[in-house]
Amino acid sequence: MPPSPALGDRALFPDLAPRFYLNHGGISPPSRPVLEAAQAVSDDFARHGAVAFVRCLTQAERVRALAARLLQVPAEHVALAPNTTRSVSDIALCFRWNPGDRVLLFEGEFPSNVLPWLQAARLHRIEPRLLSLAPFHRSHDEGLASLERELKAGARLVAVSAVQFQTGLRMPLQAMAQLCHRHGARLFVDAVQAVGLLPLALASWGVDYLAAGSHKWMMGLPGAGVVYASPEAAADLDPWTAGWLSTSDATRFLFEGEGHLRYDRPIVPGIRFLEGGNWSTSSVAALEVALSLIDALTTDSIFTHVSAYLDLLEGGLGERGFRSERSREEEGRSGILSVRPPGGRAVAEWAAALGERGVACATPDGRLRFTPHWPNALGEVPSVLDAVDEARGLLA
Ligand SMILES: Cc1ncc(COP(=O)(O)O)c(C=O)c1O
Repeated sequence: MPPSPALGDRALFPDLAPRFYLNHGGISPPSRPVLEAAQAVSDDFARHGAVAFVRCLTQAERVRALAARLLQVPAEHVALAPNTTRSVSDIALCFRWNPGDRVLLFEGEFPSNVLPWLQAARLHRIEPRLLSLAPFHRSHDEGLASLERELKAGARLVAVSAVQFQTGLRMPLQAMAQLCHRHGARLFVDAVQAVGLLPLALASWGVDYLAAGSHKWMMGLPGAGVVYASPEAAADLDPWTAGWLSTSDATRFLFEGEGHLRYDRPIVPGIRFLEGGNWSTSSVAALEVALSLIDALTTDSIFTHVSAYLDLLEGGLGERGFRSERSREEEGRSGILSVRPPGGRAVAEWAAALGERGVACATPDGRLRFTPHWPNALGEVPSVLDAVDEARGLLA
């Protein structure tokens, strides 16, 4: 078992250089136990070669179970994936489209949740439609009403991020799933800005598909992620991207003599067909420990902690003339605080000035974005604001 994590304590991150790391929505630094787990797998391969792989198979089972617990879905409906984007592409390409079907997307989404759908549109001759997020920014109710108008015009699938990467707007997933189902559409969720931070209950919310890489809020390493499909939604996929590990008895030909090498073995039911070949065993090992740490803390307490941090930071930045894009509605908030700085200086200059003062943040699409996680202490906020004051003096 890894050492116990504690909210606001970064003892598990002894190598982390920035004094205040506020870019978990970009890439999280891995904790020491996460790194050790990744290293242990590489060491196992170095010592034992192929034999180590057998241990990785059982480790993958454990990781799927941990992810399923976090998402509140049965483990057999979860598969491992290399990142968010790969899963969006897989689902977009494999969905059983009919020519002329409409897929509803949103302006301002991260490209991962738009581009693969546009590619699928070219291949399957479906119609993508980009909707404005502005009604959702005004209020969830207004957004849902605008989505319903589009759904009434006909759509097979809606693709949305659980949390918008620019503004941090949290989307009303349960209500969106209900609306989609009422109008015969499926809901796909890119949840890389949510899993590991927000309490989620996918099965009871009725979300059909979900994908998330592990290098942000799960605090794993790049190169691993999770993908979920409800059994009904998985049945809407044609397994075009199946590979050698996607079939039942996939490995018999390796161990049981001649006569088992066949290409017509049945493809496994559900979403597991996406695990078609070898995976990043060290990133999956890292994910096991990363998810165990989150499980120990619980997303309820992590999200309460991060929200309290952002309340303090948002207040301090507001007093200094920064314009917050955080939702005014409680249910629209996430782990992201994006602000527009006062004055005419570019956000890149602000980020550089803050970086020199030990504050790591990000600058997506013209915003200054702060994303603390469980290791950030509430007590550090005044020092972050001191750094902001110094940067302001420099940039004035
Ligand atoms: C909303 C969103 N989706 C997808 C990605 C990309 O994820 P991945 O690199 O796991 O494909 C990002 C950020 O990197 C993101 O913010």
